[in-house]
Amino acid sequence: MCGIVGYYGPKNPKEVIMTGLKALEYRGYDSAGVAILDKGVFKRVRAEGKLSNLSEKLTAEDFNGHLGIGHTRWATHGKPSERNAHPHTVGDVSLVHNGIIENYMELREELIKDGAVIESDTDSELVAHLLNRQLKKTPDLLPAVLAILPRLVGAYAIVCVNVKQPETMVAFKNGPPLILGVGSDAMYIASDVQAIVSYTKNVVYLEDGEVVEVKGTGYKVFSAKGKPTDKPVVEINWTADVASKGGFPHFMVKEIFEQPRAVAQAIQPHINLASTTVEMFELGLDQKALSEIERIFIVACGSSYYTGLVGEYMIERLARVPVECDIASEFRYRHPVLPKNSLFISISQSGETADTLAAVRLAKAAGVKVLSICNVRRSSIDREADGHLYMNAGTEVGVASTKAFSATLSLLNLFSIAMAKAKGKLTLAEEQDYVRQIQAAPAQIETVLNLDKWFKEGADQLKNFRGFLYLGRGVHYPIAMEGALKLKELAYMHAEGYAAGEMKHGPLALIDDDMAVVMLAPHDELFEKSISNMEEAKARGGQILSISTGHNKRLEEISNFYLALPEAGWFTMPLLEVVPVQLLAYHVAVSLGHDVDQPRNLAKSVTVE
Ligand code: M6R
Repeated sequence: MCGIVGYYGPKNPKEVIMTGLKALEYRGYDSAGVAILDKGVFKRVRAEGKLSNLSEKLTAEDFNGHLGIGHTRWATHGKPSERNAHPHTVGDVSLVHNGIIENYMELREELIKDGAVIESDTDSELVAHLLNRQLKKTPDLLPAVLAILPRLVGAYAIVCVNVKQPETMVAFKNGPPLILGVGSDAMYIASDVQAIVSYTKNVVYLEDGEVVEVKGTGYKVFSAKGKPTDKPVVEINWTADVASKGGFPHFMVKEIFEQPRAVAQAIQPHINLASTTVEMFELGLDQKALSEIERIFIVACGSSYYTGLVGEYMIERLARVPVECDIASEFRYRHPVLPKNSLFISISQSGETADTLAAVRLAKAAGVKVLSICNVRRSSIDREADGHLYMNAGTEVGVASTKAFSATLSLLNLFSIAMAKAKGKLTLAEEQDYVRQIQAAPAQIETVLNLDKWFKEGADQLKNFRGFLYLGRGVHYPIAMEGALKLKELAYMHAEGYAAGEMKHGPLALIDDDMAVVMLAPHDELFEKSISNMEEAKARGGQILSISTGHNKRLEEISNFYLALPEAGWFTMPLLEVVPVQLLAYHVAVSLGHDVDQPRNLAKSVTVE
């Protein structure tokens, strides 16, 4: 999940590479480095920690060259340290790598036997050794890369340079994303478009197994076997997403507050305002094909998986089509049966999550249509899918997903209506009623955001709990899991999301005075059952924070803290109740002094297994 940049051109490489790395810092932030060709040598500067540390080191450095590479790291092999930071330089070769070389033990042993002196603990350095060794036989970078490619097992996006070829960069990929930017007088290589969009809008998306050779301002793309390949240059109409906090102290809280707009933008393209009905045109299936779907698989990771669980509930309830929701990292290893007439839905904010992408490929290989729900257009998953639903949430910078989560929920709301319609399970009046509910959601989320003050003031008290149990039933259960995940990733506190009815099958033993129980219990058909579960927790000393709707005397008596959400049905309630659990995690993390936008050990885009 590292970010990589390569640059050839007349501008100051330091500026171009650092601009690119800044845009890619979401991919990893435990160390960073650059190598820039300067008076015939690659001058390498690396720093442990955030990109700002590298920036500081670079202020004193001057470079006169026109070629360079840069990297921001999320450690896989070897702890975060300057020694393990990229670029890795061996002899004439310097390179940056995103991914994991799975056969690194075998390569390491072989290289050591061959006399190589290995300086870091990384798998990436081994690729530099292989290339350096190969360059002694084939002194040109491109044939050297083609020669070593069969030796690499695993996932990689790599840019390499050779000190003896001052106008050349070679990049190749298998798995993680890699793009080439074509400027009028310069060439760029990067992990994503945002890294280069302020310099060029002409992009070539590289596919797995492709190798690109940049020579001066020209380039050629080859297959892994060295066969020249024609690749279209795509003109993108993106602008540089000048990431600004807009007056908020962190991106995450800004993005929490952007949720009303994110939901409105996600649903807007799919609602016919005149008839208050759903019209989804990009599903990759016509109405007949949709009506013939007999089974749906939803596959995703992390928070996206929890949205999928809500989707499973919504689709089954409205459309009566069986849905299986799976964690992407497990999906392909359980040898799933994908019957004919299935639809596979992938959910991924980034569109780059390696496990989700692998699951998409498995579904496609089985002949199943893939519908992608993602935020980043033209991301790897988006490009492979047959149908597309876009979150339209705008760039999500905070590593903890918030507005993409809500945008996805709202798309699943609409998809479940579309599916139910295709199956003849909804009357027009029912459809219109559901559409009105989702149309009302942005304004209701605005109201829920008023709870921000409560969490800000309560955070100092909340942070003293030993742990948090988040409980919910039905559609609220995935939100309980999302709440626990948010607290874990931001506050580094132990938290679990449980189906409230499961408490007596074990987790009740955890409850005492130091345990906070966050109960998601809006007034719906499961409300009375949820109250019973709260009584059980209360009787064991649990400190209860209830998130409900309206007022209920008994519930308020049991609860140590009671928060009321606006009235809404089960269909849109997840959109409302996720906001307080986001605010809880955010404020507790801030109060603990954590870096909420870049929590430790995590990265925004997970492009390795
Ligand atoms: O980009 P994706 O939606 O595929 O990412 C999936 C997860 O990595 C992501 O949701 C992760 O769990 C978030 N950090 C949660 O806040």
